[in-house]
Amino acid sequence: MTGLYIHIPFCRQKCRYCDFVSFAGAQRYIDDYLSALDREAVSYSSQKFDTLYIGGGTPSMLSAAQLDRLCRMIMRRFAPISAFRESTLEANPESLHPDKLRVLKEAGFSRLSIGLQSFDDAVLKRMGRIHDVRTFLKAYEQARQAGFDNINVDLIAGLPEQTEAMFLKGLERLALLKPEHISVYGLQVEEGTPFYQEGVRSDEDLLRSELEKTHFSLQEAGYVHYEISNFALPSRESLHNINYWQNGEYTGLGPSAASYRDGMRSTHTADLERYLHLVREGKPLTDFSERLTGKAKEGESLMLGLRMLNGVRVSALQRRMFDAEINDLVRRKLVERNGDLIKLTFEGIFLANQAFMAFVGPFDDDKCS
Ligand SMILES: C[S@@+](CC[C@H](N)C(=O)[O-])C[C@H]1O[C@@H](n2cnc3c(N)ncnc32)[C@H](O)[C@@H]1O
Ligand code: SF4
Repeated sequence: MTGLYIHIPFCRQKCRYCDFVSFAGAQRYIDDYLSALDREAVSYSSQKFDTLYIGGGTPSMLSAAQLDRLCRMIMRRFAPISAFRESTLEANPESLHPDKLRVLKEAGFSRLSIGLQSFDDAVLKRMGRIHDVRTFLKAYEQARQAGFDNINVDLIAGLPEQTEAMFLKGLERLALLKPEHISVYGLQVEEGTPFYQEGVRSDEDLLRSELEKTHFSLQEAGYVHYEISNFALPSRESLHNINYWQNGEYTGLGPSAASYRDGMRSTHTADLERYLHLVREGKPLTDFSERLTGKAKEGESLMLGLRMLNGVRVSALQRRMFDAEINDLVRRKLVERNGDLIKLTFEGIFLANQAFMAFVGPFDDDKCS
């Protein structure tokens, strides 16, 4: 499979925990930005993509007319949106209005991903979110009325001032709505964010407890826990994201977007004005690129694959390279092995970062080839 990702780096207001490349107060650039995306898309228009993901930032912040322009660009440069096996647009509750939903549905989008984050208004305020729970419920209902039958909702666990009881109650309320997919991310506090500056830090015990209970609560509600942070009703897993975890190829458009093609990983400049300038000048947009080879390449592939809870098959080459590390993970009860399949144990799901260390370099490739 091959994925196409388009980044929309605009937000109405920056949330206090957010470290994604997105800019508040930069609306004046949106029309130029859509022109730049169109120009960038020309370089990839001969390629065929299976899945489409418009992420952000806040793609739903675009007006209905701007979304329509974006959809037409995708159809002109790539394919009708309905021809992708899956096409997702990320949306924030306060900006997902019926006129935009109509544009997206008519264009052929098959999936929405709505960021709720918490089911508690006081917590949302503390996070710097500009919507409340009522706004989310209205947007969700309108999305259903517009005909979207594949919706993901994002939540964050381990948030400050949200007790475990509040988190679990919110999770239950969300499951009652029966979105086809739920993502539950553990709060990450990155340096430079307002949360970090205020001294907010991840509470590992709270996070662990909330994530463990999420597993049982959503399983009880009929969801399959198929990736560390992701839950889906049967056969509603995200195809676009599965492609990432299976180490498939993808192409990203826009500032900070990452691509993986022909064994080469690359990332675009994250600076919006520089991105616009480079596109205008027809210059390379890449800030960073690397070709993974040998143990680094195979380790990355195993690490990504292990994120999927049904595990990853270890090739003969990977076994030669990582036999000792895998044995150690099995001994530590983080990973279990069945023939050539390895997968995280229940304990390993919550300590996955410890397991992943085994597959991260630097490696001395001379010793293992
Ligand atoms: C690209 S982001 C933003 C999508 C959308 N703009 C929104 O805010 O809903 C996708 C998801 O990453 C998660 N996320 C963002 N920052 C995070 C953080 N610091 N820790 C954990 N999850 C985070 C949120 O659940 C968010 O919905
Ligand atoms: S979490 Fe979403 S809405 Fe908030 S700043 Fe980040 S990308 Fe924007």
